Amino acid sequence: MADVGLSRGLTNYGDRAFSLYLRRAFAQSMGFSDAMLERPIVGIATAGGGFNNCHRTTPELVTAVSRGVLAAGGLPLEFPTISLGEPFLTPTSLVFRNLMAMDVEEMIRAQPMDAVVLIGGCDKTLPAQLMGALSAGKPAISLVVGPMMTGSFEGERLGACTDCRAWWARYRAGELSDERIRALESNLATTAGTCAVMGTASTMACVTEALGMSLPGAATPPAVHAERLRIAEATGARAVALAHDGLTPDRIVTRESVENALRVLFAIGGSTNGVIHLTAIAGRLGIPLTLEYFNAISATTPVLVNLKPVGSAYMEHFHAAGGVGALLRELAPLLHRDTVSVAGETLGERLERVPAYVGRDVIRSATEPLVERDALVALFGNLAPNGAILKAAAADERLMEHEGRAVVFADLADLAARIDDPGLDVEPDDVLVLQNAGPIGAGMPEAGYLPIPKKLLARGVRDMLRISDARMSGTAYGAVVLHISPEAAIGGPLAAVRSGDRIRLSLREKRLDVVLTGAEIAERLRGFAQPPVPSRGYAKLYAEHILGAESGCDFDFLTRDPGRRTLGTGRAWP
Ligand code: FES
Repeated sequence: MADVGLSRGLTNYGDRAFSLYLRRAFAQSMGFSDAMLERPIVGIATAGGGFNNCHRTTPELVTAVSRGVLAAGGLPLEFPTISLGEPFLTPTSLVFRNLMAMDVEEMIRAQPMDAVVLIGGCDKTLPAQLMGALSAGKPAISLVVGPMMTGSFEGERLGACTDCRAWWARYRAGELSDERIRALESNLATTAGTCAVMGTASTMACVTEALGMSLPGAATPPAVHAERLRIAEATGARAVALAHDGLTPDRIVTRESVENALRVLFAIGGSTNGVIHLTAIAGRLGIPLTLEYFNAISATTPVLVNLKPVGSAYMEHFHAAGGVGALLRELAPLLHRDTVSVAGETLGERLERVPAYVGRDVIRSATEPLVERDALVALFGNLAPNGAILKAAAADERLMEHEGRAVVFADLADLAARIDDPGLDVEPDDVLVLQNAGPIGAGMPEAGYLPIPKKLLARGVRDMLRISDARMSGTAYGAVVLHISPEAAIGGPLAAVRSGDRIRLSLREKRLDVVLTGAEIAERLRGFAQPPVPSRGYAKLYAEHILGAESGCDFDFLTRDPGRRTLGTGRAWP
């Protein structure tokens, strides 16, 4: 019998016929007929659960995918993997992305499936699923759960979670009472689905469609829109075709499709987390994505999508305006048209079919961009020899050429203890510096969006230059430099900065520097010792194998790029 369906990957007892006989006997216990058990198997990887509000619609998506699989002649078999509900994980969801990727990879490989549908969407789940599926190497197709719809409060439209931050900042500034901020809370995230703005989940959904790993049009339909279920059914049907064709992800995710995805990441004004995830995804197939290359693509890609936090609209509007298809057509001259998607067609073929309607208030034309170029920029300099990231499109332009006095917080606890201290010596032109919040230092939390000190909020200050080795939520905004590498916890130059030092940012020169000589930095770091590695479990694995932000924070033994460097022997997280 051909090595497909149930006969795939049999346990070896030394008697192949018996192995299959045994497996079929147990499969029969689920009530499947012989005819069903002869079909190609489509695994449906789910990541739902009580700790993941974004994935609340997973059961109905599974039903729709299964319908598509059955109609196309396959046998759908759902299987769970771990789930990463962004707000419910400590120390950070990023810490567990690689764990989920390993779970996905191993379960795809270990179980007898001919193709797999990956149902996910909340920030880290989608990259984890893609990373795992790319490494597993079986035909795979992504189905995102889709974005939330917006809500409203006192006549203003609200969407998780750019508005969470904007209103919280107003609350911190004393503009909102306790009662009103509590009333607002129940209107920020009002439906199933992922965050309603161009946060990390939306960014990765668009990037995934641009990579070719989901069906055309799959990124943007809201979670509660009927189109989401139709796409789920079509995804199931297409998975059966993939099982027959053997179209594996390595033929879809190529240097060219990664570049297309990078163009889309910039054109949507996407999340800085997208840089880390796309680097890790590409790394699974040995496709290098250096920060220098990243800058070259960013410098030639306009921002066209007017969504929060860079612009003003929400994902439901992007969908109604034409979604990723309309955007791709605007970007067409910049794209590789011969890349192939899971739909089995080239991008060029897709673009010939894209309907003409484009909502111009949300998707700008290439001749009238929202921002001409450089949405996201990699910075280098004596503070970031291996690079740092700045979401220039979402920052106060005034701060993009800036020199200011450093106000240093040694770690997250220090930040929490002192940021609102009335005695804190801080002025609007100062630079807030957070240390020890990188991958080793603290699991790289989304803490790079340091709060503006209350005493400055009260003076009307709404943006300051803030720098750290942490990440930032894709829903956040401001003059925030992130992912500084090497990080402070492994003795990067960031660890040498002291309050009162002068920090210089130049977007024009793409540099981030502290006004210190190399010798002064070295002297301050003399005797620096990394904290010890945890003694057991996943924390130990993480600490020993995590790569830097510029390498996508994958584990060294999971990436296909042997040149990547682990961060060393620091602790995983406090
Ligand atoms: Fe899941 Fe924002 S919390 S996408």
